[in-house]
Amino acid sequence: MLNQTPSRITTLAWERALRSEFLADTTPDESVDRFAQILLALGKSTVLDVGCGNGRHSLLLAQKGFDTYALDMTESSLQLTQALLKQHQLRATMTKAYMEELPFPDETFDGLLGFCVYNHGDGPQVHASIVESQRVLCRGGFMYLCLMTPRDFRYQLGKRAKPRMLIFDRGPERGIPHYFISRLQLETLFRNFSIVDFRLEEEEANELVLRDYLCGAGQGTRLISHYTLIATKN
Ligand SMILES: C[S@@+](CC[C@H](N)C(=O)[O-])C[C@H]1O[C@@H](n2cnc3c(N)ncnc32)[C@H](O)[C@@H]1O
Repeated sequence: MLNQTPSRITTLAWERALRSEFLADTTPDESVDRFAQILLALGKSTVLDVGCGNGRHSLLLAQKGFDTYALDMTESSLQLTQALLKQHQLRATMTKAYMEELPFPDETFDGLLGFCVYNHGDGPQVHASIVESQRVLCRGGFMYLCLMTPRDFRYQLGKRAKPRMLIFDRGPERGIPHYFISRLQLETLFRNFSIVDFRLEEEEANELVLRDYLCGAGQGTRLISHYTLIATKN
């Protein structure tokens, strides 16, 4: 059934989003820098960036000297990532694949990053993708995930196609499925891992985000809400 997963059938919507201004910023998220510091301090060397997008985090990892692997299902993402790395005279191993079927043997990576990636799909896909990532992580390896929570204002937008899953009907990510995971679901998925750090990260959406997603509808402050999790495989 995995060949019918929601994110696969929306590859074209992703190609459009990746070429839009909305996903053009190549500034890495500070939290990924913190994750990289943890890996460095522990002497970890091989890191997979799942759903690498425009390549901003693959670049950060390559700059820090990791043996970096960048993976995405879209051609646009791999081209953007390759170009960004080349601009900085760095390299990474590029792989075109789906996060729910990673083409790597068990226990290949010391670190794995999934930043705003695993929330694209329905419940079974999100579950399968996280379990698949756990498979390719070495024992003693670390995983960093950032996922949307149901407190995010965008949980109220668009068509609720499946439980906890919306397909946005406006904005730069229109046509793309978004899954809003609960804390309990995450803790259950990581029950065999040690959770090193778990945070609810929230901020008010800025005007750009409100303009893009609300297209002028509604007023007042709106919350952007994510869970971030660092876990190690026992
Ligand atoms: C919101 S972007 C995040 C990009 C990057 N992680 C960052 O933080 O800048 C999500 C990325 O996940 C990719 N993606 C979505 N579903 C995927 C799947 N099933 N398998 C692999 N990549 C996927 C998209 O093509 C896109 O590049």
